[in-house]
Amino acid sequence: MKRKETFREEIEDLLKQMTLEEKIGQMNQYTGFFDVTGPAPDDGDNKAKYEDIKNGRVGSMLNVTGVKKVREMQKLAVENSRLGIPMVFAMDVIHGHKTIFPIPIAEAASWDLEAIELGARIAAIEATAEGIQWTFAPMVDVSRDARWGRVMEGAGEDPFLGAKVAAARVKGFQGDDLSAMDTLAACAKHFVGYGFAEAGKDYNTVDLGTSTLYNVLFPPFKAAAEAGVLTFMNSFNVLNGIPATGDKFLQRDILKGKWAYDGLMVSDWGSIGEMIPHGYAENGRQAALLAAEAGSDMDMESHLYIKHLKDLVEDGELDVEHINDAVRRVLRLKYKLGLFKDPYKYCDEQKEQKLLRHSDHIDAALDVAKKSIVLLKNDKNFLPLPKSGKKIALIGPLGNDKTSPLGNWRLAAEDGIATSLLEGLEKYGSNPISYTQGVQFASAPIHFIHELKINTQDRSGITEAVTLAKEQDIVIMCLGEHGMQSGEGRSRANIDLPGLQQELLEAVYAVNQNIVLVLMNGRPLAIEWADTHIPAIVEAWQLGIKSGDAIAQILYGDYNPSGKLPMTFPRSVGQIPIYYNHKNTGRPGPDALVFWAHYIDEQNTPLYPFGHGLSYSKFEYFGLMIQNLDTPNSVQVEVQLRNNSKIDGYEIVQLYIRDHFASVTRPIKELKGFKKVPVKANETKTIRFELGEEELGFYNNQGEFIVEKGKFDVMVGGSSASGLSQEFEI
Ligand code: NOJ
Repeated sequence: MKRKETFREEIEDLLKQMTLEEKIGQMNQYTGFFDVTGPAPDDGDNKAKYEDIKNGRVGSMLNVTGVKKVREMQKLAVENSRLGIPMVFAMDVIHGHKTIFPIPIAEAASWDLEAIELGARIAAIEATAEGIQWTFAPMVDVSRDARWGRVMEGAGEDPFLGAKVAAARVKGFQGDDLSAMDTLAACAKHFVGYGFAEAGKDYNTVDLGTSTLYNVLFPPFKAAAEAGVLTFMNSFNVLNGIPATGDKFLQRDILKGKWAYDGLMVSDWGSIGEMIPHGYAENGRQAALLAAEAGSDMDMESHLYIKHLKDLVEDGELDVEHINDAVRRVLRLKYKLGLFKDPYKYCDEQKEQKLLRHSDHIDAALDVAKKSIVLLKNDKNFLPLPKSGKKIALIGPLGNDKTSPLGNWRLAAEDGIATSLLEGLEKYGSNPISYTQGVQFASAPIHFIHELKINTQDRSGITEAVTLAKEQDIVIMCLGEHGMQSGEGRSRANIDLPGLQQELLEAVYAVNQNIVLVLMNGRPLAIEWADTHIPAIVEAWQLGIKSGDAIAQILYGDYNPSGKLPMTFPRSVGQIPIYYNHKNTGRPGPDALVFWAHYIDEQNTPLYPFGHGLSYSKFEYFGLMIQNLDTPNSVQVEVQLRNNSKIDGYEIVQLYIRDHFASVTRPIKELKGFKKVPVKANETKTIRFELGEEELGFYNNQGEFIVEKGKFDVMVGGSSASGLSQEFEI
């Protein structure tokens, strides 16, 4: 307690010494430029930034990485600025740093919170070794729209799973001790609504009901705040007509008010300036005013705070207390990270050498990659494949791709460092493997910021693929999305197999039907044709540095798949938004006449429901029992889980509830518990859950958490679409 008081007092002392301009400097974040040891870069903008750092007009930098560069930049601030306040260095460390882990939606498919936490822990160890002190992760936006490219960066469609994953990631990044050398500040983003962009188009408008806001979108953010996340980021979108960046209700009333959050809110990149094209602010000066008043503490790269806040305060338009509040939050972050004690604490060259891509990190990346794979279909136990004695054709543009499996957010990692599926198959089995890509993916080399041009013309490789498939016993088709086809700014209007891959798949199928389809993608895909025709389908996402090893181990049965989908796979894009926890409607059907909630040209059910995922074991649920507990409004749920097979496995047991009648209508199913359980061959296990007010209540439209008496169903099973159910009352 004593230390805490000192800590706050020190901040107050510092604040008293700061000029208004220096305070505003702390609220300014610039993206990096390099070459600061020599003369300042020629570029006018960069030169100005360089001078700004020396003059105490920059509180934080992003995109500066490597001990040498961070040290050089930090030196500019610490040795040149009047008060020597250190900067805090940030970067998007999203799914690993040098050791690239599975993309976040893949990791969420593991439902393995320990593995997810470890992934974030290792990312933090490597990023801090390179001087990074703050990551813009985890993204905790719930999304129901697979067209939105950033679903790859989140935990899927469910607020309960999303909240657990959010907390695990925060714990992993921040560890137990923020002053340690290998922990960094996490950032819950994007507050809020970003994943609900209309038509799945990135940066698009969001209109959202109160009930969904409180019950679906807020929970993962609240969980991150409760897990102690040091920072939040607001979002690009307007929410019900107000840009989130300038939304006082979200930032001051909810986050910093109701939730009593004392961390820092950074804007998204340029989002303060984007309030002008949104039609909310008339000019840069007004945008800065609105954002600062609303509680955006730091301006990432729109340069409007540094330009206008001083005048706004001096002209009496902006209350200086808003500035003081923001600066306290920035300084607290720096204190908590230990930067005042040692501004260079993350700048140890020797550590950098030792820790990057350490073999333990690579092993952990492989472990979670295997756990993230989802077996979508396995007719007649087509999988696992024999390890020898079969001639295998590997076909598809992703089969020998060593870059796409790294996914989109891998700023610090080089291309080509993933193991390809071809390498994995050769390593873990002794079947002869012949590879051909069949169709080429994209016509030009791709960079993070460039639009991808998918090949839709060149069919020259299809004949070779068909000839090869004819001669082999088994075909593994490795298809899906290029690594840069999901992520920021990568919305798709069609979520099928891009380019000529569907054509390739059908051509190969015509000559050999013994096909395993291995999918690599950053979002759910609409693959109904494949589901109808192909006997085995494996969802392998973008699994990171050990992708090929992980997939091969699953295909050969060295590892029994256990992943479950964190997001619904639609049959067709027209079903979107499709999600398991929808409302019942007044006309749920089915009915013989047309007057019920359905399509006349498509089914209502998804292709693969939320929570779906098969195993090589065969699990059976029985003996569901519900018992009242002594605490009011709480019950114990018990179920028996049997492994009816000769193979040891893991099952992710899922518990859903339905609140039948409420003052605000409730979804037909809501996930309220899950457990990842090891079950040996022929073993039966008793699984128990407790449900209390936290699980049975909900937020009303005034944002109050309430518990209402009445009838509930509980459902327990291996997916959101199957399991045992029973009714109870509270
Ligand atoms: C924009 C993205 O929306 C955000 O998530 C990211 O952290 C920033 N750019 C910084 O790169």
